Amino acid sequence: MSNFNEISSKYEKDSVIQKSASEILFDLLNIQPGDNVLDLGCGTGHISKLIRAKTDGQVVGVDPSEGMIEKANEHYSGQNILFHTHLAEQLDYKDEFEIIFCNSAFQWFIDTKKVLKACNIALRQNGKMAIQAPATNNYCPNFIQAIEEVKRHESTKDTFSCFTSPWLFLNTSDEYSALFEEAGLSVEKSSIDKVTTSHSAEEAYKIFESGASAGYLNQTYYNIQVTREYIESFRNIIKKSFEDQAKETGQVDLTFYRIYLLAVKK
Ligand SMILES: C[S@@+](CC[C@H](N)C(=O)[O-])C[C@H]1O[C@@H](n2cnc3c(N)ncnc32)[C@H](O)[C@@H]1O
Repeated sequence: MSNFNEISSKYEKDSVIQKSASEILFDLLNIQPGDNVLDLGCGTGHISKLIRAKTDGQVVGVDPSEGMIEKANEHYSGQNILFHTHLAEQLDYKDEFEIIFCNSAFQWFIDTKKVLKACNIALRQNGKMAIQAPATNNYCPNFIQAIEEVKRHESTKDTFSCFTSPWLFLNTSDEYSALFEEAGLSVEKSSIDKVTTSHSAEEAYKIFESGASAGYLNQTYYNIQVTREYIESFRNIIKKSFEDQAKETGQVDLTFYRIYLLAVKK
């Protein structure tokens, strides 16, 4: 399972990319006052709080990371939001929500088909679900370039060869749509967009640390022991790569390919 516990204390500040990507989900879902909303893979709850501002209905945030939910409760428990620590695969709601909001979490699901079936059951008739997630094998060319260097470097290549990616990255919007349709949801919009923003090398590194490192630096996804020395070398190589990727202005053009999908329970 992904491990966001370690980064939960920095997550809210450093997850600038996830936060800006969530704005399109708000547009797609058009939450109405009175809607019951599930924030699936809610992390530290700062987006659940923005959802709360749009509705008087129930707002529920679900995430398997105890660290993330601890931060969510610390910061937003006074806002009438219910946070639960469990996997999306363990959802157990029936006809409860008008909206399921899923920002930057879909790629982490272990059993996507099971999650989508449970979401279909959790939604009310005409209820809507939208996801935003990094997509395609080239989901962030800058991260991929940095990882290529990890793969080649003497100090990291052997251990990295024992890493298996935990993520689901499909290459076309039709493939994402097929998953939702198979679960009984009707897809209204599905597209993979390319988004590029400029950041200092240090910011690019923090963005990497706010999500990708929970996979790349997680013992669960290696079949040999990951040492402290490996983690240190890995981080140094990534930092150096972002410095090398910076232009004369000192800025890195950070590109993400993202799936934006809206589905409805008919
Ligand atoms: C990049 S964070 C996104 C958090 C938040 N939605 C946001 O936009 O800031 C990804 C979240 O997905 C959660 N996650 C990982 N596997 C999950 C699963 N199987 N079910 C639900 N959430 C999961 C992680 O714990 C993490 O908090």
